[in-house]
Amino acid sequence: FTMRQPLVAGNWKMNGSRASVAALLDGLKAGIGQVTTAEVAVCAPAILIADTQASLQGSSIKWGGQDLSVHESGAYTGEIAGPMLADFGCHYVIIGHSERRAYHGESDALVAEKFVAARNAGLVPILCVGETLEERESGITEQVVARQIDAVVAHCGIDKVGEGVIAYEPVWAIGTGKTATPEQAQEVHAFIRGRLAASSASVAEDMQILYGGSMNPKNAAELIGQADIDGGLIGGASLKADDFLAVCSAANG
Ligand code: 13P
Repeated sequence: FTMRQPLVAGNWKMNGSRASVAALLDGLKAGIGQVTTAEVAVCAPAILIADTQASLQGSSIKWGGQDLSVHESGAYTGEIAGPMLADFGCHYVIIGHSERRAYHGESDALVAEKFVAARNAGLVPILCVGETLEERESGITEQVVARQIDAVVAHCGIDKVGEGVIAYEPVWAIGTGKTATPEQAQEVHAFIRGRLAASSASVAEDMQILYGGSMNPKNAAELIGQADIDGGLIGGASLKADDFLAVCSAANG
């Protein structure tokens, strides 16, 4: 018997304006009353977090950032520090998204440092892991995901890792409309939970492991229905209130 609460988090990536975000959040607030058991969050571009906070304050929807610096403050032009995100009421921060690993050269070691930086600021890190198509076709999916997780466990310790959330996002499923089948996703989720269990059975049991990659209103219920899939990290479908709410409802059991 597990007590894991379903979590659906939107990752808006680099999309939106002050006007579009205001409209999207009004739409979410209007429909969120239906979502009673699942936890819901949106991760906004840094410059739109203040507006997001102003709109969501007092609602059941949490918000977060999409990345943070490993540093707390200082001469790091263009960076956003964990304490700044916390100052704007962020609950979550995504770390190690495949787009940052691929386009900004983020290493497993850097991602592990970001995990600590997030916790030091009181934020809950959503740690993204996942293999590329080439890696899957080479049969090294589990090796890749194990390496990405082990780096954080080795750096932070398993109990600290247990304070975060993990998102399994196969790179080949992100923004492609090509979703992992429920069986494919469940297989990797179970592997991740087993990997955590090697260090701590209780952390493994309690860890929320989200699936990300072209999750939408059509496929969400079946994915989230898998034993080790505890919710979703949603890109494209989080930009439309109706679609995002439908995914949230699917997670609501
Ligand atoms: P899509 O839902 O657009 O495939 O994006 C998934 C993702 O990368 C969420 O972080």
